[in-house]
Amino acid sequence: NQSKFEVLERKNAEALLGGGEKRIEAQHQKGKLTARERISLLLDEDSFEEIGKFVMHRCKDFGLDKEYYLGDGVVTGYGTVHGRLIYVYAQDFTVFGGALSETHAEKICKIMDLAMKNGAPVIGLNDSGGARIQEGVMSLAGYADIFYKNTLASGVIPQISAVMGPCAGGAVYSPAITDFILMVENTSYMFVTGPNVVKTVTHEVVTSEELGGASTHSTKSGVTHFSCANEVICLNNIKKLLSYIPQNCEEDAPFQIYEPGNELRKGLDEIIPENPNQPYDIKEVIEQLADPESFFEVHQNYAENIVVGFARIAGRSIGIIANQPAVMAGVLDIHASQKAARFVRFCDCFNIPLLVLEDVPGFMPGTNQEWGGIITHGAKLLYAFCEATVPRITVITRKAYGGAYDVMNSKHIGADMNYAWPTAEIAVMGAKGAAEIIFKKEIAESDNKEEKLAEKVEEYTDKFANPFRAAHRGYIDEVIKPSETRQKLIKAFKMLENKVASLPKKKHGNIPL
Ligand code: COA
Repeated sequence: NQSKFEVLERKNAEALLGGGEKRIEAQHQKGKLTARERISLLLDEDSFEEIGKFVMHRCKDFGLDKEYYLGDGVVTGYGTVHGRLIYVYAQDFTVFGGALSETHAEKICKIMDLAMKNGAPVIGLNDSGGARIQEGVMSLAGYADIFYKNTLASGVIPQISAVMGPCAGGAVYSPAITDFILMVENTSYMFVTGPNVVKTVTHEVVTSEELGGASTHSTKSGVTHFSCANEVICLNNIKKLLSYIPQNCEEDAPFQIYEPGNELRKGLDEIIPENPNQPYDIKEVIEQLADPESFFEVHQNYAENIVVGFARIAGRSIGIIANQPAVMAGVLDIHASQKAARFVRFCDCFNIPLLVLEDVPGFMPGTNQEWGGIITHGAKLLYAFCEATVPRITVITRKAYGGAYDVMNSKHIGADMNYAWPTAEIAVMGAKGAAEIIFKKEIAESDNKEEKLAEKVEEYTDKFANPFRAAHRGYIDEVIKPSETRQKLIKAFKMLENKVASLPKKKHGNIPL
Protein backbone atom coordinates (compact mmCIF):
# COMPACT_ATOMS: atom_id res chain seq x y z
CA ASN A 1 0.00 0.00 0.00
CA GLN A 2 2.95 2.27 0.57
CA SER A 3 3.20 3.18 -3.10
CA LYS A 4 -0.51 4.04 -3.21
CA PHE A 5 -0.09 6.33 -0.24
CA GLU A 6 2.81 7.97 -2.03
CA VAL A 7 0.63 8.64 -5.06
CA LEU A 8 -1.86 10.33 -2.78
CA GLU A 9 0.83 12.39 -1.12
CA ARG A 10 2.25 13.44 -4.48
CA LYS A 11 -1.16 14.48 -5.76
CA ASN A 12 -1.89 16.40 -2.57
CA ALA A 13 1.38 18.26 -2.90
CA GLU A 14 0.68 19.00 -6.56
CA ALA A 15 -2.79 20.33 -5.79
CA LEU A 16 -1.40 22.68 -3.14
CA LEU A 17 0.79 24.32 -5.77
CA GLY A 18 -2.12 25.26 -8.06
CA GLY A 19 -0.66 26.68 -11.27
CA GLY A 20 2.90 26.20 -10.00
CA GLU A 21 5.58 28.10 -8.15
CA LYS A 22 6.26 30.61 -10.93
CA ARG A 23 2.68 31.76 -11.06
CA ILE A 24 2.47 31.88 -7.26
CA GLU A 25 5.50 34.14 -7.35
CA ALA A 26 3.80 36.32 -10.01
CA GLN A 27 0.70 36.55 -7.80
CA HIS A 28 2.83 37.72 -4.86
CA GLN A 29 4.62 40.20 -7.13
CA LYS A 30 1.26 41.84 -7.80
CA GLY A 31 0.81 42.29 -4.04
CA LYS A 32 -1.81 39.54 -3.94
CA LEU A 33 -2.08 36.42 -1.80
CA THR A 34 -2.90 32.99 -3.20
CA ALA A 35 -6.28 31.35 -2.78
CA ARG A 36 -4.97 29.03 -0.07
CA GLU A 37 -3.21 31.82 1.80
CA ARG A 38 -6.46 33.77 1.82
CA ILE A 39 -8.44 30.82 3.13
CA SER A 40 -5.96 30.21 5.91
CA LEU A 41 -6.16 33.87 6.98
CA LEU A 42 -9.95 33.82 6.91
CA LEU A 43 -10.64 30.60 8.79
CA ASP A 44 -9.80 29.48 12.31
CA GLU A 45 -6.45 27.73 12.44
CA ASP A 46 -6.50 24.16 11.08
CA SER A 47 -10.25 24.29 10.54
CA PHE A 48 -10.27 24.13 6.73
CA GLU A 49 -11.52 20.92 5.13
CA GLU A 50 -11.15 20.91 1.37
CA ILE A 51 -13.72 19.44 -1.01
CA GLY A 52 -12.91 18.57 -4.62
CA LYS A 53 -9.15 18.97 -4.44
CA PHE A 54 -8.53 16.66 -7.41
CA VAL A 55 -11.26 17.93 -9.72
CA MET A 56 -10.02 18.61 -13.28
CA HIS A 57 -11.63 20.24 -16.31
CA ARG A 58 -13.08 18.17 -19.15
CA CYS A 59 -12.23 20.47 -22.05
CA LYS A 60 -10.34 19.00 -25.01
CA ASP A 61 -10.27 22.09 -27.24
CA PHE A 62 -7.55 24.65 -27.91
CA GLY A 63 -4.80 22.54 -26.36
CA LEU A 64 -6.48 22.12 -23.00
CA ASP A 65 -6.28 18.32 -23.38
CA LYS A 66 -2.61 18.81 -22.52
CA GLU A 67 -3.01 21.27 -19.66
CA TYR A 68 -4.56 20.12 -16.40
CA TYR A 69 -4.29 21.40 -12.87
CA LEU A 70 -5.69 19.59 -9.83
CA GLY A 71 -8.54 21.64 -8.38
CA ASP A 72 -9.22 23.47 -11.66
CA GLY A 73 -8.69 27.02 -10.45
CA VAL A 74 -10.86 27.15 -7.37
CA VAL A 75 -10.27 25.94 -3.82
CA THR A 76 -13.53 24.98 -2.10
CA GLY A 77 -14.51 23.59 1.28
CA TYR A 78 -15.70 24.39 4.77
CA GLY A 79 -14.26 25.45 8.09
CA THR A 80 -14.99 27.78 10.97
CA VAL A 81 -14.69 31.50 11.71
CA HIS A 82 -14.74 32.25 15.45
CA GLY A 83 -15.90 28.67 15.91
CA ARG A 84 -18.92 28.95 13.58
CA LEU A 85 -19.31 26.87 10.41
CA ILE A 86 -18.87 28.59 7.05
CA TYR A 87 -18.46 27.39 3.47
CA VAL A 88 -15.83 29.04 1.33
CA TYR A 89 -14.56 29.12 -2.21
CA ALA A 90 -11.44 30.95 -3.34
CA GLN A 91 -10.61 31.33 -7.01
CA ASP A 92 -7.00 30.51 -7.78
CA PHE A 93 -5.56 33.04 -10.21
CA THR A 94 -2.49 30.83 -10.76
CA VAL A 95 -4.64 28.33 -12.69
CA PHE A 96 -5.85 29.77 -16.02
CA GLY A 97 -6.11 33.17 -14.31
CA GLY A 98 -8.84 31.78 -12.04
CA ALA A 99 -11.05 31.55 -15.15
CA LEU A 100 -14.34 29.78 -14.59
CA SER A 101 -14.84 26.41 -16.32
CA GLU A 102 -17.74 23.98 -16.17
CA THR A 103 -16.05 21.96 -13.40
CA HIS A 104 -14.87 25.07 -11.52
CA ALA A 105 -18.54 26.16 -11.41
CA GLU A 106 -19.64 22.69 -10.30
CA LYS A 107 -17.29 22.91 -7.33
CA ILE A 108 -18.75 26.25 -6.28
CA CYS A 109 -22.31 24.96 -6.70
CA LYS A 110 -21.50 21.89 -4.61
CA ILE A 111 -20.53 23.93 -1.58
CA MET A 112 -23.49 26.26 -2.08
CA ASP A 113 -25.80 23.23 -1.98
CA LEU A 114 -24.15 22.03 1.22
CA ALA A 115 -24.43 25.51 2.74
CA MET A 116 -28.13 25.67 1.92
CA LYS A 117 -28.84 22.22 3.35
CA ASN A 118 -26.84 22.85 6.50
CA GLY A 119 -27.73 26.50 7.02
CA ALA A 120 -24.39 28.29 7.07
CA PRO A 121 -22.93 31.32 5.24
CA VAL A 122 -21.01 31.09 1.95
CA ILE A 123 -17.96 33.28 1.51
CA GLY A 124 -16.69 33.72 -2.07
CA LEU A 125 -13.17 35.02 -2.63
CA ASN A 126 -13.15 36.17 -6.25
CA ASP A 127 -10.01 36.55 -8.36
CA SER A 128 -10.68 35.53 -11.92
CA GLY A 129 -10.17 36.41 -15.57
CA GLY A 130 -13.83 35.52 -16.17
CA ALA A 131 -15.28 32.79 -18.35
CA ARG A 132 -12.75 30.07 -19.34
CA ILE A 133 -12.48 31.21 -22.94
CA GLN A 134 -11.57 27.76 -24.30
CA GLU A 135 -14.80 26.27 -22.94
CA GLY A 136 -17.25 28.70 -24.49
CA VAL A 137 -20.87 28.14 -23.58
CA MET A 138 -20.07 25.47 -20.95
CA SER A 139 -18.43 28.17 -18.94
CA LEU A 140 -21.40 30.50 -19.39
CA ALA A 141 -23.68 27.70 -18.24
CA GLY A 142 -21.51 27.37 -15.14
CA TYR A 143 -21.98 31.06 -14.34
CA ALA A 144 -25.72 30.79 -14.77
CA ASP A 145 -25.82 27.78 -12.42
CA ILE A 146 -24.08 29.91 -9.79
CA PHE A 147 -26.37 32.94 -10.31
CA TYR A 148 -29.41 30.69 -9.97
CA LYS A 149 -28.15 29.19 -6.73
CA ASN A 150 -27.14 32.64 -5.41
CA THR A 151 -30.72 33.75 -5.98
CA LEU A 152 -32.28 30.69 -4.37
CA ALA A 153 -29.94 31.06 -1.40
CA SER A 154 -30.70 34.78 -1.03
CA GLY A 155 -32.46 35.35 2.28
CA VAL A 156 -31.82 31.75 3.38
CA ILE A 157 -28.11 31.95 4.22
CA PRO A 158 -25.83 34.99 4.29
CA GLN A 159 -23.66 35.25 1.17
CA ILE A 160 -20.55 37.43 1.21
CA SER A 161 -18.30 38.18 -1.76
CA ALA A 162 -14.77 39.53 -1.58
CA VAL A 163 -13.30 40.77 -4.84
CA MET A 164 -9.53 40.37 -4.60
CA GLY A 165 -8.49 40.63 -8.23
CA PRO A 166 -10.23 40.89 -11.59
CA CYS A 167 -13.99 40.32 -11.69
CA ALA A 168 -15.34 41.26 -15.08
CA GLY A 169 -18.11 40.53 -17.52
CA GLY A 170 -20.68 38.00 -16.38
CA ALA A 171 -18.56 37.24 -13.31
CA VAL A 172 -19.79 40.41 -11.62
CA TYR A 173 -23.32 39.16 -11.27
CA SER A 174 -22.68 36.53 -8.65
CA PRO A 175 -21.21 39.06 -6.18
CA ALA A 176 -23.96 41.50 -7.16
CA ILE A 177 -26.67 39.06 -6.05
CA THR A 178 -24.94 38.25 -2.75
CA ASP A 179 -25.55 40.26 0.41
CA PHE A 180 -22.24 42.10 0.76
CA ILE A 181 -19.30 42.89 -1.49
CA LEU A 182 -15.84 43.80 -0.20
CA MET A 183 -13.12 45.03 -2.54
CA VAL A 184 -9.38 45.45 -2.08
CA GLU A 185 -7.95 48.83 -3.05
CA ASN A 186 -5.64 48.96 -6.10
CA THR A 187 -5.60 45.20 -6.79
CA SER A 188 -9.25 44.48 -7.55
CA TYR A 189 -11.75 45.74 -10.07
CA MET A 190 -15.26 44.95 -11.20
CA PHE A 191 -16.89 45.97 -14.47
CA VAL A 192 -19.31 44.66 -17.02
CA THR A 193 -16.97 45.68 -19.86
CA GLY A 194 -13.32 46.71 -19.48
CA PRO A 195 -11.52 49.90 -20.56
CA ASN A 196 -10.83 48.63 -24.12
CA VAL A 197 -14.47 47.94 -24.89
CA VAL A 198 -15.47 51.20 -23.24
CA LYS A 199 -13.04 53.07 -25.49
CA THR A 200 -14.42 51.42 -28.63
CA VAL A 201 -18.06 51.95 -27.78
CA THR A 202 -18.22 55.28 -25.96
CA HIS A 203 -14.77 56.74 -26.81
CA GLU A 204 -14.09 57.29 -23.12
CA VAL A 205 -10.52 56.74 -21.98
CA VAL A 206 -10.45 55.33 -18.50
CA THR A 207 -8.21 53.05 -16.42
CA SER A 208 -9.41 49.81 -14.82
CA GLU A 209 -9.05 51.40 -11.40
CA GLU A 210 -11.10 54.47 -12.36
CA LEU A 211 -13.73 52.41 -14.13
CA GLY A 212 -14.24 49.74 -11.51
CA GLY A 213 -11.74 49.89 -8.66
CA ALA A 214 -12.61 49.74 -4.97
CA SER A 215 -12.74 53.50 -4.53
CA THR A 216 -15.03 53.94 -7.54
CA HIS A 217 -17.45 51.29 -6.35
CA SER A 218 -17.41 52.41 -2.73
CA THR A 219 -18.06 56.08 -3.49
CA LYS A 220 -19.63 56.50 -6.95
CA SER A 221 -21.66 53.41 -7.75
CA GLY A 222 -22.29 51.88 -4.32
CA VAL A 223 -21.66 48.42 -5.81
CA THR A 224 -19.24 47.54 -3.02
CA HIS A 225 -20.09 47.86 0.65
CA PHE A 226 -16.52 47.89 1.94
CA SER A 227 -13.34 49.24 0.40
CA CYS A 228 -10.36 47.62 2.11
CA ALA A 229 -6.79 48.93 2.11
CA ASN A 230 -5.32 45.45 1.70
CA GLU A 231 -6.25 41.77 1.60
CA VAL A 232 -5.70 41.14 5.31
CA ILE A 233 -8.04 43.99 6.23
CA CYS A 234 -10.55 42.65 3.74
CA LEU A 235 -10.49 39.15 5.29
CA ASN A 236 -10.70 40.61 8.80
CA ASN A 237 -13.71 42.66 7.77
CA ILE A 238 -15.46 39.48 6.61
CA LYS A 239 -14.84 37.92 10.02
CA LYS A 240 -16.14 41.03 11.76
CA LEU A 241 -19.23 41.13 9.54
CA LEU A 242 -19.98 37.49 10.35
CA SER A 243 -19.93 38.29 14.08
CA TYR A 244 -23.12 40.39 13.72
CA ILE A 245 -25.16 37.99 11.62
CA PRO A 246 -26.80 34.61 12.17
CA GLN A 247 -25.95 31.40 10.34
CA ASN A 248 -29.23 31.36 8.44
CA CYS A 249 -32.73 32.87 8.34
CA GLU A 250 -34.04 30.53 11.06
CA GLU A 251 -31.51 31.64 13.66
CA ASP A 252 -30.73 34.73 15.69
CA ALA A 253 -27.45 36.60 15.50
CA PRO A 254 -24.84 35.63 18.09
CA PHE A 255 -25.32 37.35 21.43
CA GLN A 256 -22.32 38.82 23.21
CA ILE A 257 -22.23 38.66 26.98
CA TYR A 258 -22.78 42.14 28.34
CA GLU A 259 -22.18 43.40 31.88
CA PRO A 260 -24.77 46.10 32.64
CA GLY A 261 -23.24 49.37 33.86
CA ASN A 262 -24.21 53.01 33.98
CA GLU A 263 -26.26 53.37 30.82
CA LEU A 264 -26.96 57.12 31.13
CA ARG A 265 -25.29 59.09 28.37
CA LYS A 266 -25.24 62.66 29.67
CA GLY A 267 -23.31 63.97 26.67
CA LEU A 268 -26.34 63.37 24.45
CA ASP A 269 -28.32 66.06 26.25
CA GLU A 270 -25.98 68.64 24.70
CA ILE A 271 -25.70 67.22 21.20
CA ILE A 272 -28.59 68.94 19.40
CA PRO A 273 -27.60 72.53 18.49
CA GLU A 274 -29.87 75.43 19.55
CA ASN A 275 -30.29 76.43 15.92
CA PRO A 276 -32.31 73.73 14.15
CA ASN A 277 -30.47 74.42 10.89
CA GLN A 278 -27.08 73.71 12.37
CA PRO A 279 -25.64 70.27 11.64
CA TYR A 280 -24.28 67.70 14.11
CA ASP A 281 -22.73 64.30 13.49
CA ILE A 282 -25.22 61.46 13.94
CA LYS A 283 -22.29 59.04 14.29
CA GLU A 284 -21.54 60.65 17.65
CA VAL A 285 -25.07 59.75 18.72
CA ILE A 286 -24.61 56.19 17.44
CA GLU A 287 -21.32 55.82 19.36
CA GLN A 288 -23.11 56.85 22.56
CA LEU A 289 -26.12 54.60 22.08
CA ALA A 290 -24.29 51.46 20.95
CA ASP A 291 -22.05 49.24 23.07
CA PRO A 292 -18.53 50.69 23.08
CA GLU A 293 -16.61 50.05 19.82
CA SER A 294 -19.45 47.95 18.45
CA PHE A 295 -20.56 50.15 15.53
CA PHE A 296 -19.52 48.64 12.20
CA GLU A 297 -20.45 50.91 9.34
CA VAL A 298 -21.57 49.56 5.97
CA HIS A 299 -21.30 51.65 2.78
CA GLN A 300 -19.27 54.23 4.69
CA ASN A 301 -18.35 56.43 1.74
CA TYR A 302 -21.49 56.13 -0.35
CA ALA A 303 -24.62 58.31 0.08
CA GLU A 304 -23.21 59.69 3.30
CA ASN A 305 -26.43 61.59 4.01
CA ILE A 306 -27.67 58.33 5.49
CA VAL A 307 -25.62 56.12 7.80
CA VAL A 308 -26.18 52.37 8.01
CA GLY A 309 -24.34 49.66 9.88
CA PHE A 310 -24.34 46.99 12.53
CA ALA A 311 -23.89 47.55 16.25
CA ARG A 312 -24.69 45.92 19.55
CA ILE A 313 -26.96 47.13 22.30
CA ALA A 314 -26.32 45.29 25.58
CA GLY A 315 -24.75 42.49 23.55
CA ARG A 316 -27.61 42.18 21.07
CA SER A 317 -26.81 42.62 17.38
CA ILE A 318 -28.88 45.35 15.69
CA GLY A 319 -28.94 47.20 12.37
CA ILE A 320 -28.87 51.00 12.50
CA ILE A 321 -30.28 53.33 9.86
CA ALA A 322 -29.67 57.00 10.67
CA ASN A 323 -30.15 60.24 8.77
CA GLN A 324 -26.91 62.23 8.83
CA PRO A 325 -27.59 65.95 9.43
CA ALA A 326 -23.89 66.66 8.83
CA VAL A 327 -24.20 65.73 5.12
CA MET A 328 -26.75 67.56 2.96
CA ALA A 329 -28.81 68.13 6.13
CA GLY A 330 -29.64 64.41 6.15
CA VAL A 331 -32.01 64.72 3.18
CA LEU A 332 -33.27 61.52 1.55
CA ASP A 333 -32.24 61.19 -2.08
CA ILE A 334 -32.09 58.34 -4.60
CA HIS A 335 -28.82 56.84 -3.43
CA ALA A 336 -29.61 57.16 0.27
CA SER A 337 -32.98 55.48 -0.25
CA GLN A 338 -31.43 52.57 -2.16
CA LYS A 339 -28.60 52.16 0.33
CA ALA A 340 -30.91 52.12 3.32
CA ALA A 341 -33.56 49.95 1.69
CA ARG A 342 -31.10 47.19 0.89
CA PHE A 343 -29.71 47.27 4.41
CA VAL A 344 -33.19 47.10 5.98
CA ARG A 345 -34.00 44.09 3.81
CA PHE A 346 -30.79 42.30 4.76
CA CYS A 347 -31.51 42.79 8.47
CA ASP A 348 -35.08 41.66 8.05
CA CYS A 349 -34.03 38.51 6.15
CA PHE A 350 -31.74 37.54 9.00
CA ASN A 351 -33.70 38.47 12.12
CA ILE A 352 -31.59 41.48 13.03
CA PRO A 353 -33.64 44.14 14.88
CA LEU A 354 -33.66 47.66 13.48
CA LEU A 355 -32.94 50.98 15.15
CA VAL A 356 -33.74 54.14 13.20
CA LEU A 357 -32.35 57.52 14.24
CA GLU A 358 -34.35 60.17 12.49
CA ASP A 359 -33.45 63.74 11.63
CA VAL A 360 -34.72 64.28 8.12
CA PRO A 361 -35.84 67.49 6.41
CA GLY A 362 -37.61 65.53 3.63
CA PHE A 363 -36.83 64.19 0.18
CA MET A 364 -34.35 66.01 -2.06
CA PRO A 365 -36.05 68.38 -4.53
CA GLY A 366 -34.94 68.98 -8.13
CA THR A 367 -35.09 67.74 -11.71
CA ASN A 368 -32.05 65.56 -11.18
CA GLN A 369 -33.85 63.59 -8.51
CA GLU A 370 -37.30 63.57 -10.09
CA TRP A 371 -36.00 62.50 -13.51
CA GLY A 372 -33.80 59.94 -11.82
CA GLY A 373 -36.90 58.38 -10.29
CA ILE A 374 -36.78 59.45 -6.64
CA ILE A 375 -40.43 58.43 -6.45
CA THR A 376 -39.61 54.81 -7.27
CA HIS A 377 -36.36 54.71 -5.30
CA GLY A 378 -37.78 56.45 -2.24
CA ALA A 379 -40.61 53.90 -2.37
CA LYS A 380 -38.04 51.12 -1.98
CA LEU A 381 -37.16 52.35 1.48
CA LEU A 382 -40.79 52.80 2.40
CA TYR A 383 -41.58 49.30 1.14
CA ALA A 384 -38.59 47.77 2.92
CA PHE A 385 -39.66 49.20 6.27
CA CYS A 386 -43.35 48.33 5.76
CA GLU A 387 -42.41 44.74 5.02
CA ALA A 388 -39.93 44.28 7.87
CA THR A 389 -41.17 42.00 10.65
CA VAL A 390 -38.12 42.19 12.94
CA PRO A 391 -38.28 44.33 16.11
CA ARG A 392 -38.23 47.96 14.98
CA ILE A 393 -37.51 51.05 17.08
CA THR A 394 -37.29 54.69 16.00
CA VAL A 395 -35.83 57.65 17.86
CA ILE A 396 -36.65 61.06 16.39
CA THR A 397 -33.81 63.34 17.42
CA ARG A 398 -34.88 66.45 15.56
CA LYS A 399 -36.63 66.88 12.20
CA ALA A 400 -39.26 64.46 10.99
CA TYR A 401 -40.82 66.29 8.09
CA GLY A 402 -43.35 65.37 5.49
CA GLY A 403 -43.44 62.03 3.71
CA ALA A 404 -39.99 61.30 5.08
CA TYR A 405 -41.56 61.14 8.57
CA ASP A 406 -43.79 58.31 7.35
CA VAL A 407 -40.98 56.53 5.53
CA MET A 408 -38.42 56.53 8.34
CA ASN A 409 -39.92 53.66 10.32
CA SER A 410 -42.95 55.53 11.62
CA LYS A 411 -45.47 53.90 13.93
CA HIS A 412 -47.95 53.88 11.06
CA ILE A 413 -45.88 51.50 8.94
CA GLY A 414 -45.27 48.96 11.65
CA ALA A 415 -42.53 50.24 13.98
CA ASP A 416 -42.87 48.76 17.47
CA MET A 417 -41.56 51.58 19.65
CA ASN A 418 -41.24 55.21 18.61
CA TYR A 419 -39.42 57.63 20.83
CA ALA A 420 -38.80 61.33 20.35
CA TRP A 421 -36.42 63.70 22.03
CA PRO A 422 -37.88 67.01 23.25
CA THR A 423 -35.99 68.64 20.35
CA ALA A 424 -38.08 66.71 17.80
CA GLU A 425 -40.06 68.64 15.20
CA ILE A 426 -42.74 66.46 13.67
CA ALA A 427 -44.50 68.38 10.94
CA VAL A 428 -45.43 68.42 7.29
CA MET A 429 -42.56 70.81 6.58
CA GLY A 430 -40.29 73.39 8.21
CA ALA A 431 -42.13 76.24 9.99
CA LYS A 432 -41.05 78.99 7.56
CA GLY A 433 -42.14 77.12 4.45
CA ALA A 434 -45.39 76.13 6.10
CA ALA A 435 -46.19 79.67 7.27
CA GLU A 436 -45.44 81.10 3.82
CA ILE A 437 -48.00 78.76 2.26
CA ILE A 438 -50.87 78.68 4.71
CA PHE A 439 -50.69 82.37 5.66
CA LYS A 440 -49.79 83.59 2.17
CA LYS A 441 -52.74 85.95 1.89
CA GLU A 442 -52.46 87.31 5.41
CA ILE A 443 -48.76 88.01 4.97
CA ALA A 444 -49.26 89.65 1.56
CA GLU A 445 -51.94 91.95 2.93
CA SER A 446 -49.94 92.92 6.00
CA ASP A 447 -48.22 96.34 6.23
CA ASN A 448 -45.13 94.75 7.71
CA LYS A 449 -44.70 91.51 5.83
CA GLU A 450 -41.54 90.43 7.60
CA GLU A 451 -43.04 90.87 11.04
CA LYS A 452 -46.18 89.06 10.01
CA LEU A 453 -44.19 86.16 8.62
CA ALA A 454 -42.14 85.93 11.82
CA GLU A 455 -45.32 85.94 13.87
CA LYS A 456 -46.85 83.17 11.76
CA VAL A 457 -43.64 81.13 11.80
CA GLU A 458 -43.73 81.31 15.58
CA GLU A 459 -47.36 80.25 15.63
CA TYR A 460 -46.62 77.22 13.45
CA THR A 461 -43.48 76.41 15.44
CA ASP A 462 -45.42 76.44 18.71
CA LYS A 463 -47.98 74.07 17.27
CA PHE A 464 -45.84 71.60 15.36
CA ALA A 465 -42.10 72.05 15.92
CA ASN A 466 -42.24 69.70 18.89
CA PRO A 467 -43.00 66.04 19.54
CA PHE A 468 -46.09 66.56 21.70
CA ARG A 469 -48.78 66.71 19.02
CA ALA A 470 -47.61 63.30 17.81
CA ALA A 471 -47.31 61.99 21.37
CA HIS A 472 -50.89 63.09 22.18
CA ARG A 473 -52.01 60.89 19.32
CA GLY A 474 -49.88 57.96 20.41
CA TYR A 475 -47.77 58.12 17.25
CA ILE A 476 -44.86 58.60 19.64
CA ASP A 477 -44.80 56.16 22.54
CA GLU A 478 -42.68 58.31 24.81
CA VAL A 479 -40.84 61.61 24.74
CA ILE A 480 -37.50 60.98 26.41
CA LYS A 481 -34.39 62.88 27.40
CA PRO A 482 -31.49 62.08 25.07
CA SER A 483 -29.37 60.91 28.01
CA GLU A 484 -31.93 58.18 28.83
CA THR A 485 -32.10 56.82 25.30
CA ARG A 486 -29.65 53.96 25.70
CA GLN A 487 -31.48 52.72 28.82
CA LYS A 488 -34.78 52.84 26.96
CA LEU A 489 -33.36 50.99 23.96
CA ILE A 490 -31.85 48.21 26.08
CA LYS A 491 -35.21 47.60 27.73
CA ALA A 492 -37.28 47.94 24.57
CA PHE A 493 -35.14 45.58 22.45
CA LYS A 494 -35.30 43.05 25.29
CA MET A 495 -39.07 43.50 25.51
CA LEU A 496 -39.34 42.86 21.74
CA GLU A 497 -37.01 39.87 21.56
CA ASN A 498 -39.78 37.31 21.07
CA LYS A 499 -41.75 39.40 18.59
CA VAL A 500 -43.79 37.35 16.14
CA ALA A 501 -45.18 39.07 13.07
CA SER A 502 -45.94 37.75 9.64
CA LEU A 503 -46.95 39.08 6.27
CA PRO A 504 -50.06 38.06 4.34
CA LYS A 505 -49.57 34.84 2.37
CA LYS A 506 -48.24 35.60 -1.08
CA LYS A 507 -45.83 34.27 -3.68
CA HIS A 508 -43.62 37.31 -3.18
CA GLY A 509 -44.20 41.03 -3.02
CA ASN A 510 -43.46 43.41 -5.87
CA ILE A 511 -41.00 45.92 -4.42
CA PRO A 512 -40.67 49.00 -6.70
CA LEU A 513 -37.33 48.13 -8.31
N1 COA B 1 -9.82 32.03 -19.87
C1 COA B 1 -8.75 31.23 -19.92
N2 COA B 1 -7.53 31.59 -19.48
C2 COA B 1 -7.41 32.84 -18.98
C3 COA B 1 -8.48 33.72 -18.91
C4 COA B 1 -9.73 33.27 -19.38
N3 COA B 1 -10.80 34.07 -19.30
N4 COA B 1 -8.07 34.89 -18.36
C5 COA B 1 -6.76 34.73 -18.10
N5 COA B 1 -6.35 33.49 -18.47
C6 COA B 1 -5.02 32.92 -18.32
C7 COA B 1 -4.00 33.58 -19.21
O1 COA B 1 -3.97 32.94 -20.46
C8 COA B 1 -2.72 33.37 -18.42
O2 COA B 1 -2.29 32.04 -18.62
P1 COA B 1 -0.74 31.61 -18.40
O3 COA B 1 -0.46 31.75 -16.93
O4 COA B 1 -0.71 30.21 -18.84
O5 COA B 1 0.06 32.55 -19.21
C9 COA B 1 -3.17 33.48 -16.99
O6 COA B 1 -4.58 33.22 -17.01
C10 COA B 1 -2.92 34.83 -16.36
O7 COA B 1 -3.45 35.82 -17.22
P2 COA B 1 -2.63 37.13 -17.61
O8 COA B 1 -3.34 37.76 -18.76
O9 COA B 1 -1.20 36.80 -17.77
O10 COA B 1 -2.81 37.97 -16.27
P3 COA B 1 -2.92 39.53 -16.11
O11 COA B 1 -2.90 39.79 -14.65
O12 COA B 1 -1.92 40.22 -16.95
O13 COA B 1 -4.37 39.93 -16.69
C11 COA B 1 -6.75 39.73 -17.01
C12 COA B 1 -5.55 39.48 -16.09
C13 COA B 1 -7.97 39.12 -16.34
C14 COA B 1 -6.99 41.23 -17.19
C15 COA B 1 -6.51 39.10 -18.38
O14 COA B 1 -6.06 37.76 -18.21
C16 COA B 1 -7.72 39.09 -19.26
O15 COA B 1 -8.05 40.08 -19.88
N6 COA B 1 -8.41 37.93 -19.37
C17 COA B 1 -9.55 37.75 -20.18
C18 COA B 1 -10.77 38.42 -19.63
C19 COA B 1 -11.99 38.08 -20.44
O16 COA B 1 -12.22 38.63 -21.50
N7 COA B 1 -12.75 37.06 -20.00
C20 COA B 1 -13.81 36.46 -20.72
C21 COA B 1 -15.09 37.17 -20.63
S1 COA B 1 -15.88 37.12 -19.05
